[in-house]
Amino acid sequence: MEEPERRIRSYSRRSGRLSSSQERALAELLPRYGGTLSIERSLPLSQWFPEDGRIVLEIGFGMGEATVEIAEKFPDHFFLGAEVHKPGIGRLLNEIERRGIKNIRVVHGDADILIRTMLPKLYLSGVHIFFSDPWPKKRHHKRRLIQAPFLRSLLPVLKPDGYIYMVTDWEDYAQWILAESEKVPELENPYKGYASPIPWRPETRFEKKGLDKMHLIREIWLQKR
Ligand SMILES: C[S@@+](CC[C@H](N)C(=O)[O-])C[C@H]1O[C@@H](n2cnc3c(N)ncnc32)[C@H](O)[C@@H]1O
Repeated sequence: MEEPERRIRSYSRRSGRLSSSQERALAELLPRYGGTLSIERSLPLSQWFPEDGRIVLEIGFGMGEATVEIAEKFPDHFFLGAEVHKPGIGRLLNEIERRGIKNIRVVHGDADILIRTMLPKLYLSGVHIFFSDPWPKKRHHKRRLIQAPFLRSLLPVLKPDGYIYMVTDWEDYAQWILAESEKVPELENPYKGYASPIPWRPETRFEKKGLDKMHLIREIWLQKR
């Protein structure tokens, strides 16, 4: 497989020490409940999920609290979480093991590459992106994950009627996401603007930080036409 051209590096180096239990989880549990993205090997997706399963990709799950809660709420769905932040990956793996969760698989790696190189066509029922890094400085806007080319890259892997559910506490990014999504006519915004809060989404760690700063939470829901 050819290495794809890297378009955006949407994540920053985040602080956070890897605890010994997270380190052990990466070594012992990652091979059991997921894997590392590599251009040399494809991921064993067919061993992870049934062919006709409803599979939802979560990009940038952070510490994975929302991932676990949503997976437990929807036991008939399958969740594929992609993250680059090792402490968060370790924490989620430990939670999967501790709670005996069967419907989450974890990928250590860049979701942008995962989408463009590894996922079969018409594979996903939905995509969750909660509190994607907002890159507030204008000169960094190009590093924002959610922009029209990225949204277009999701089209082939989304099932007909598949959805993209995004939440941010950064007002300028929220407006940017709405504007970028209007450049992709294959995606419909049934709310014609911000969505009403989706009742099953638990609060995330970054959401709490935003709320502490009195930020408004904006939700955007797009549907493949
Ligand atoms: C601001 S944090 C939000 C974490 C979590 N969703 C929450 O709400 O608490 C954004 C996360 O997205 C991850 N991330 C950013 N770009 C990514 C990419 N291309 N692939 C995988 N993870 C990514 C970062 O490592 C970071 O953990």
